[in-house]
Amino acid sequence: MSRRPTSTSRRFEDGGSMPFVGSLNPKSRPSPVVSIVLVVLGAFLIIGYLYSGSGGSAGKEALMKLEAGASCSSEVLKSIPLLKKVYGDSMHKILHVGPETCSVVSKLLKEDDTEAWGVEPYDLDDADAKCRSLVHKGIVRVADIKYSLPYSRNSFSLVIVSDALDYLSPKYLNKTLPELARVAADGIVVFSGYPGQRRAKVAELSKFGRPAKLRSSSWWIRYFVQISLAENESITKKFEQAATKSSYAPDCQIFHLKPHKK
Ligand SMILES: *[C@@H]1O[C@H](CO)[C@@H](O)[C@H](O)[C@H]1NC(C)=O
Ligand SMILES: *[C@@H]1O[C@H](CO)[C@@H](O)[C@H](O)[C@H]1NC(C)=O
Repeated sequence: MSRRPTSTSRRFEDGGSMPFVGSLNPKSRPSPVVSIVLVVLGAFLIIGYLYSGSGGSAGKEALMKLEAGASCSSEVLKSIPLLKKVYGDSMHKILHVGPETCSVVSKLLKEDDTEAWGVEPYDLDDADAKCRSLVHKGIVRVADIKYSLPYSRNSFSLVIVSDALDYLSPKYLNKTLPELARVAADGIVVFSGYPGQRRAKVAELSKFGRPAKLRSSSWWIRYFVQISLAENESITKKFEQAATKSSYAPDCQIFHLKPHKK
């Protein structure tokens, strides 16, 4: 419409390259956001590299803990009423194995007629006072589950494991699952992630040493058969019926195994 700007533009041309210098310069400098992202990324890679070698005892900020823990251990918390319903008496002496075990054990200890212990497979650097007290009392232990568990045979009526198995290769599963079976008198409940549900995060890598390998339910069932662990079919059926009845749709796969006893 207005033709006036012609004079303005001519004035810019007259003023040499000044306006262009002004507009080009900031763009040629790397943006501070990009620099920060690169530095943070580099730091994560270094931390991940360092801890993958040392077996992992990272546990940086509470944020990482939250991200890594918001998973099947929280599903265990949600399923306690159903587990009580279907396992009845077998819920009297429980071992929970997995990240966030302090919160699972604290919750279980609030139930009537239930004793509970926990094994935290990773570090507890950022444990709160309540969790430190559970560790101090020997109720929660930090232990590498790739090796023997510090409990004798049939120490617990039920062993519940969440997330932890997702970080083990079959070689270590071959050691860990029989160990869980050894200390369990009545059964083992396995909570594991669905394939494609969670991505390996850099935070998880530094904490767990390797990304979670989320396996399908058919993979797990085949694997259980291979190491002679059978599903407890009556419990599995009861649990599914109870879940349907209370409209509970777990975000994790749940397997109910019999401990094989010779
Ligand atoms: C795990 O144990 C099963 C049964 O003993 C065996 O067939 C399989 O090869 C083992 N897997 C690994 C990776 O050691
Ligand atoms: C299934 O689990 C329940 C509860 O622990 C137990 O009482 C029952 O004996 C188990 N069934 C088999 C066939 O092992």
